[in-house]
Amino acid sequence: MARVLIIGAGGVGRVVTHKCAQLPEIFDEICLASRTLSRCETIASELKRPIQTATLDADEVPQTVALIKEFRPDVVINVALPYQDLAIMDACLETGVPYLDTANYEPKDEAKFHYGWQWAYQDRFKDARLMALLGSGFDPGVTNVFTAWLHKHEFDEIEYLDILDCNAGDHGQAFATNFNPEINIREITQRGRYWENGDWVETDPLSVSMPYDFPEEIGEKQLYLLYHEELESLVKHFPKIKRARFWMTFGDEYLTHLRVLQNVGMTRIDPVSYQGTEIIPLQFLKSLLPDPSTLGETTKGKTCIGCLVQGTKDGKPKKAFLYNACDHEECNREVNAQAISYTTGVPAMIGAKMIITNTWNGDGVFNMEQFDPDPFMEDLNRYGLPWKLQILS
Ligand SMILES: NC(=O)c1ccc[n+]([C@@H]2O[C@H](COP(=O)([O-])OP(=O)(O)OC[C@H]3O[C@@H](n4cnc5c(N)ncnc54)[C@H](OP(=O)(O)O)[C@@H]3O)[C@@H](O)[C@H]2O)c1
Repeated sequence: MARVLIIGAGGVGRVVTHKCAQLPEIFDEICLASRTLSRCETIASELKRPIQTATLDADEVPQTVALIKEFRPDVVINVALPYQDLAIMDACLETGVPYLDTANYEPKDEAKFHYGWQWAYQDRFKDARLMALLGSGFDPGVTNVFTAWLHKHEFDEIEYLDILDCNAGDHGQAFATNFNPEINIREITQRGRYWENGDWVETDPLSVSMPYDFPEEIGEKQLYLLYHEELESLVKHFPKIKRARFWMTFGDEYLTHLRVLQNVGMTRIDPVSYQGTEIIPLQFLKSLLPDPSTLGETTKGKTCIGCLVQGTKDGKPKKAFLYNACDHEECNREVNAQAISYTTGVPAMIGAKMIITNTWNGDGVFNMEQFDPDPFMEDLNRYGLPWKLQILS
């Protein structure tokens, strides 16, 4: 029985709160805190059991420290934005509470993400005898666990890893992002990067693509190579991987809108002067785009995210695809959210369960692939994200 503090009442925060509330035998007290109290209250009103809510600006460490001291959680789940990661880690260290997030730290003024900032907390968490679990969403998160599980059970060596992220859903909007638009557009418009033979190779944004024929009646979709944070930790923890890449599907309509928005400067993150006021164009654009947490009702179709792996088993070449497929409408029926929020929120809940039940334990800052994947894989099947393994050769 544990007390959980969830920070961030957006699309992912809604799913984590619903899923924790479904498990009173594990999470007996829940507090949902976010910048806008009304969003916490809306989520609380959807649940079958009472939870606490609080207003919190998690950029302000003393505010988070005060809330932690008042609520006394056993774990903090950070599903606010990547900008808040370090401030919430500082508050956890000050109060002696384990930390979990789903996305690695990004400074607001530079669209660049890497684990260096959070890995630098290793000694502080170790000395405090606390765990920080980084990237417990789907990708990063489940994709790291999938890789560890394939390595443990199906391959002697993993040589080639391709993480495939397909959203074959349709939200009925001309242009919308399925998680926070600011974070999403920053990620997609960066230069691509992948790991090959011990080095990073850079590519122009969205310049490398390939088709893939997805299972679950999804069929062929065009994938685009992106840089994604789990590549950094996976090649560190599985140093024999020769090549690791991350791919995401985009439709032509989405890419055309994105290109136009980029060309006219709407995706810029530097301040521009507008009628005497400084505004950040991307933040202004975010205020115009649909809120991803409202897309649940209109989104139809499936996601399919997984790891396509080539390597060897018993001296012979082997290829396999380990994936989860998730139906947007089923997610919405269960927790009022589309599948991108669902596939992120469920692993965040499971990661917190791993920590508080001591199933995963250790002092310091950890990525998901550093632990035994088996109990996490069992919980994915149990709590709404069943997985399938296709042996391709
Ligand atoms: N690993 C994965 O698979 C994966 C996939 C998707 C998303 N993610 C991550 O999940 C996180 C949440 O995404 P989302 O789509 O739920 O975003 P979202 O809908 O924009 O929700 C973010 C929430 O955080 C709150 N917030 C922002 N700044 C805050 C602050 N300083 N203090 C307290 N609360 C603050 C926002 O408050 P307001 O309501 O006041 O704006 C909002 O409620 C992001 O970090 C995203 O990168 C991970």
